Amino acid sequence: MPATVVVGTQWGDEGKGKFTDLVAKEMQLVVRYQGGHNAGHTIVVDGESFALQLVPSGVLYDHITPVIANGVVVDPTVLLAEMDMLTAKGVDCSRIKVSGNAHLILPYHQEIDRLTERRLGNAKLGTTKRGIGPAYSDKASRVGLRVQDLLDPKIFRAKLDVVLKEKNQVLAKVFNQLPLDADEIAHHYLEECRPRLEPHIADTVNLVHEALEAGQHVLLEGAQATFLDLDHGTYPFVTSSNPVAGGACTGAGIGPRYIDRVMGIAKAYVTRVGTGPFPTELAISGEAVGGKPRDGVDDEELRLGDHFVDVGHEYGTNSGRRRRPGWFDAVMLRHAVRLNSLSELAITKLDVLDKLEEVRVCVAYDVRGERMEHLPYHQSDLHAARPVYETLPGWRTDLTQATETHHLPREAEDYLAFLEEQVGVPIRLVGTGPGRTQFVHRRD
Ligand code: IMP
Repeated sequence: MPATVVVGTQWGDEGKGKFTDLVAKEMQLVVRYQGGHNAGHTIVVDGESFALQLVPSGVLYDHITPVIANGVVVDPTVLLAEMDMLTAKGVDCSRIKVSGNAHLILPYHQEIDRLTERRLGNAKLGTTKRGIGPAYSDKASRVGLRVQDLLDPKIFRAKLDVVLKEKNQVLAKVFNQLPLDADEIAHHYLEECRPRLEPHIADTVNLVHEALEAGQHVLLEGAQATFLDLDHGTYPFVTSSNPVAGGACTGAGIGPRYIDRVMGIAKAYVTRVGTGPFPTELAISGEAVGGKPRDGVDDEELRLGDHFVDVGHEYGTNSGRRRRPGWFDAVMLRHAVRLNSLSELAITKLDVLDKLEEVRVCVAYDVRGERMEHLPYHQSDLHAARPVYETLPGWRTDLTQATETHHLPREAEDYLAFLEEQVGVPIRLVGTGPGRTQFVHRRD
């Protein structure tokens, strides 16, 4: 049975959790294939909000095996705390499986992430400071510790001693910090975390293949998004893994021929956290890391920027950071369609546009007088890109009760049809509010 990938198409925070949850209902396995607890999915069930960082969305269904695959970086303390939170809310976590090949986040990763950002000052990336980049760096440098090392305390300790010697030199000589203690780290990981994690550690590649061979439905769940991809995003303002659909293959251990459906999630507008280029960005009156300066910006732009942040509740699920807002960017989306070979789109948060007189879509960039309809590959061109907008009438109707296509006013339908025409793939699902049932399923 073929597999489905759900992938973010912008800079993350598209509201993937809601539609991943919806698609997950039909699946037997839900597999997280990259990232770590830099992610934050919020799923609202019967008015109760579940904020997930590491555990795949499928955990809320009894029939699903949630899998944290080899491509993920795992902080065991965070994972166990998340399981405790879910258990306290009555969710059964016993089915969660964690790949023995997934890499561990260790305290020095978080320290180095935090200190590097501080040292970079104004040039910082605005990372989540969760140790994600340093953990993936160690994986690539082949000095990482893996989840399976927890099962062999001697190997864990030997690897830790080697790597910590170097990390402590870096902490002392580059960052002028006190060294970390190997005994303390080993005690926490081996004595406190291991006994609780051990029942969940598994050969997840085998698990995924057994499921596929048995004809089960497998959902591959991406975290972050296309333009935070290490290879294809707005480097260096990216995360350190591959959220694009292709990353699902390496991150879960399957070949591309198993994937026959790739659903891209896009918000009806765009947000970004952290620094980096953002052609359709609107200034806001509050502070946001890397945000557009307010100098010379007219009141109308500030009003719109604030509208997206306030009405869309655009604050980080876990970090609480204010997100930078902007209009929908069809140039980026066309590129995301290519990079992920999207078969369909789901648009989230359409209701956030409900009160606007008119809505804008960026259809091309003006780069020093030249019109570009594709994303420029050169960073200087992307920094220089000015959006070329098409303006459409707003619908000025409350969509939060809309659940059928015919509930959508003509202007909202026209907006969706315009996006489809611009990006070339059908929009199957449209989010009209945060609740599990607040969406419209569009059919052919
Ligand atoms: P890191 O993943 O913590 O290394 O952060 C690198 C960049 O990715 C920063 O700009 C973060 O704000 C961004 N980022 C990481 N995870 C997410 C996410 O789940 N949503 C949105 N942005 C994210």
